[in-house]
Amino acid sequence: MLDFRGLVSLLEQRGELYRISRPVDPEFEMAAVMAQIDQQRRAFLFENVIGARFPVIGGLLNRIECFGWALGSTPGAPFTADDLDARFEAAKRNPIPPREVPTAPVKEVVRRGAQIDLPDLPVPTFFELDTGPFITSACGISRNPNTGHLNVGVYRSLILGANTLAVNASSLSDLRKFYQHAEQHGKSMPVALAIGVEPALQMAAACKLPPDQSELDLAGGLQGRPIDLVKCETSDLLVPANAEMIIEAEVRFTGNIDNNLGEFAGQYGLETAPIAEVTAITHRKDAMFYSILAGRNPEHNTLGSIATFSIRRALISALRSQLSGIIDIEVFLEPRMGAMAHIVMSMDKQNDAEPMALIEAAFRAAGGFFPVSHITKRIIVVDQDVNVHDLGDVEWAMYTRIARAEKYRVIPEVKSWELERCAKGEKGSLRLAIDATKDIEDREDMLRPIIPGASEISLADYLQKKS
Ligand SMILES: Cc1cc2nc3c(=O)[nH]c(=O)nc-3n(C[C@H](O)[C@H](O)[C@H](O)COP(=O)(O)O)c2cc1C
Repeated sequence: MLDFRGLVSLLEQRGELYRISRPVDPEFEMAAVMAQIDQQRRAFLFENVIGARFPVIGGLLNRIECFGWALGSTPGAPFTADDLDARFEAAKRNPIPPREVPTAPVKEVVRRGAQIDLPDLPVPTFFELDTGPFITSACGISRNPNTGHLNVGVYRSLILGANTLAVNASSLSDLRKFYQHAEQHGKSMPVALAIGVEPALQMAAACKLPPDQSELDLAGGLQGRPIDLVKCETSDLLVPANAEMIIEAEVRFTGNIDNNLGEFAGQYGLETAPIAEVTAITHRKDAMFYSILAGRNPEHNTLGSIATFSIRRALISALRSQLSGIIDIEVFLEPRMGAMAHIVMSMDKQNDAEPMALIEAAFRAAGGFFPVSHITKRIIVVDQDVNVHDLGDVEWAMYTRIARAEKYRVIPEVKSWELERCAKGEKGSLRLAIDATKDIEDREDMLRPIIPGASEISLADYLQKKS
């Protein structure tokens, strides 16, 4: 298992980390360089960021393989999203709680009061219309007011001034509920941002867990040893001892501030967040500032894909348990198709009305975290000879098996989740229902070309050399 610096060293040893010593401007110029390196699935270290006192590291987790290396797989050996999903499930079954330690590398330097100066940090402004510089890698730590347990999530945070920032909690996040609780009780609340943490914790923080499960226990399970935690300087929160940097803050509910950022699905997202006052910054003497390029880019999307594991699983099991007649099912939830899910189901229909009825029932179903219709843009039903896991095969069915207009339906004015940025407020957005099955009357004619006996052939038998 690798810690944060271990992963950086491995990437450097493999020649997969570019060091950039030329001075770069944190406004746009750095993002433009990050974008090219991230696309190459390489890591970067900006050694000289204009006006800042820390170097910027990133591109560490822009391929699933890197997640595997951090979790102990052999560098170079294949490691897939399914492998990662399996590691998560195993860690959920075998969580390891964190342990508190008295001293920590992240306490090598402690800044309070006038020593706090956020513009010291090399925080990039990424896109033309972003509200300002955003910290994008931070694992935000807060306390659940009902259970007292620590909660961790990745939240973008906008720098507002020398000692103020806005930690953005989406309406789906646990942090938003804690904000609401504190505000309703007329209290402020502490939050801490941990930058440059163990990769296992970075992954666990991105994961959407039920309220009774802990991201810290999950991270311990993933890395096979507890996450070390140390007390904050200015609150009762505990934070990762091995982090590069901790920003301690107190969220005061004096008003919300707009923050606009180019998001994972390739659109701007306008959100609002309360203002937080920074009460301390602690860091390693030679701290590196970890920045994830925002937008529809590899590191953000690869890390974000972890959050989709549980949403996909919940949708699939909800539909399988609520509907009958599904032979196979796939949920595509990938930024290449925006922020919305696309569901494909196969069935063995008995009449031409069945597929549309199945789609309608699916749109009405509960989906685990949210109703299916809130998060799903399109549901397609195919015959069982089409591979639901292969979007190419599904597209083929859509363009070879549909001649009647009623096999496409547009469902208007459906309530949507907030990340569908084109939805029209109360009027919601459209949904697509597509019956891509063959009509019953075509069943015997429109056959896929098949080579008889092909499935019994083993190519190796034909490639053996003569002895
Ligand atoms: C790079 C990145 C940025 C993210 N930004 C935000 C954000 O600004 N607000 C938010 O609520 N969730 C954001 N998320 C998703 C959350 O981290 C994720 O949903 C997490 O489970 C939320 O934790 P919580 O529900 O315990 O609060 C982001 C995820 C990633 C990978």
